[in-house]
Amino acid sequence: MLHRVIYASEAVGVTGASTLSVAQILGESERNNRRDDLTSCVMFHEGHILQAIEGARVDIDRLVRRLLADPRHTGLRILSDSPIPRRRLDDPIFLCPDAAALLAKVGVVCLSRVTANEAEALLDLRQAA
Ligand SMILES: Cc1cc2nc3c(=O)[nH]c(=O)nc-3n(C[C@H](O)[C@H](O)[C@H](O)COP(=O)(O)O)c2cc1C
Repeated sequence: MLHRVIYASEAVGVTGASTLSVAQILGESERNNRRDDLTSCVMFHEGHILQAIEGARVDIDRLVRRLLADPRHTGLRILSDSPIPRRRLDDPIFLCPDAAALLAKVGVVCLSRVTANEAEALLDLRQAA
């Protein structure tokens, strides 16, 4: 059974703001998610982070435990966690390229107050892009 977890968190320091910090996260995520058969997309916007993760329960839970212990972000809150019939994400890790434009399309001003429904809508739009 596949699951999808969407969480939001707050960046610490330069996380998501510097090319190096993004490259480091993408690099380790690519390697681990490929190994664990997880698919994911992540968005950085003005110090806020949104990530969707799809895969088997045990692998998602293991990743969430690592994410909770990662000092590069804080305040991790799960927005949605549900079983899914099929994946909507194809890549081990996909970086949403133009977060501001995507958020504007959904009418989200700031990720700090994003709802589960809005996060799902962002996922749909990302797919259509
Ligand atoms: C915003 C953010 C997103 C991340 N996404 C992933 C991810 O999708 N997969 C992953 O394995 N690690 C991800 N990480 C890194 C993990 O928190 C953790 O540092 C890493 O999985 C540890 O890997 P290691 O056990 O191979 O050292 C992310 C970190 C941040 C800050």
